[in-house]
Amino acid sequence: MTLRLPRDLIARIDRPAGRHAPERRSPNPLRLMPEEPRDRLAGTWRQARPSRIHRSFLDAQGRNPGGWHVVGASTDVGGTRSVTRTVGGREVVLWRAGDGSLMAGPGTCPHLGALLDDCEVMHERVYCRWHGLALGPGVRRDWLTYPAQDDGVLLWVRLPTDGEEPTDTPALPVRPPVDASFATVVTLRGTCEPSDVIANRLDPWHGTWYHPYAFSHLTVDDAASTDDRLVVDVAFRVTRRYAVPVRAEFTCPDARTIVMTIVDGEGEGSVVETHATLVSHDRSGRPTTVVTEATIAHSERKGFGVARSLAPLLRPAVASTARRLWVDDLAYAERRWELRDRGETYGY
Ligand code: FES
Ligand SMILES: [Fe+2]
Repeated sequence: MTLRLPRDLIARIDRPAGRHAPERRSPNPLRLMPEEPRDRLAGTWRQARPSRIHRSFLDAQGRNPGGWHVVGASTDVGGTRSVTRTVGGREVVLWRAGDGSLMAGPGTCPHLGALLDDCEVMHERVYCRWHGLALGPGVRRDWLTYPAQDDGVLLWVRLPTDGEEPTDTPALPVRPPVDASFATVVTLRGTCEPSDVIANRLDPWHGTWYHPYAFSHLTVDDAASTDDRLVVDVAFRVTRRYAVPVRAEFTCPDARTIVMTIVDGEGEGSVVETHATLVSHDRSGRPTTVVTEATIAHSERKGFGVARSLAPLLRPAVASTARRLWVDDLAYAERRWELRDRGETYGY
């Protein structure tokens, strides 16, 4: 798709940008950075060293999620009906207490096993659809609630999880201030494990070659990067000629989460949080994983106030770009699982 930019906007674009120097106070974030023709674009496979990617992956996988799993967006659960999710093969019901806080418990009714989805919520309790058993904290010994948390953008539930020491709260990434940002959440599912989703993002080198419609001029700053922090200079494509250069870093607060933070350039402080939650394995062992991605956009620009008020209109556009990227990235993650399932490893 080629986008036409208004003339006055182009007139304000001063000069081409160096890839390492996003200009924070320029009146316009767009830079003249023409896309390389495909046949002149350099492959990135030399920089994308498998041993380097694997080191970051092992570091991320060593971070304890404390049994916390993302189970959706805050907007997914209202005050009057319950919602269910499956996490690691366990059905979980979610609802809200009178003060709006998130509640969670087993998704199966202890009476005759009804799924507790879309049940009425009254007086802080979930009423089973089949025979009206009221369930909530302290009601029955055979149906105990789980710790749950609504962080304002996403919903979390803590479940006993093999190999994970429970923690009081999830490891929340640093986010921009709520009153100067807007959040968009997309969810997708794929045939892979959560670790495949994280591994895909720990290979930022694929960005320009695999997603040329979204990224260009990407370099990983090796001097600024460590095994637990990848620092990347990259341009977000707006049209074939214009792009928005930023500096971003990738970190993994836990083994199922990877966060990209814009650390310099337009939208500094904005984050993209990618959370991977295992739904279940089927009888043949094929996993299903849900990816919940929260883009929390932030800008100090005056116009951003306007953008915030337009959030309901902008949200679908942000979400559609994120979805397109994720169609490709899920294919990458699924391929990684498929290779592992075949007993094949590449490069390390
Ligand atoms: S199955 Fe839930 S009350 Fe009977
Ligand atoms: Fe990608």
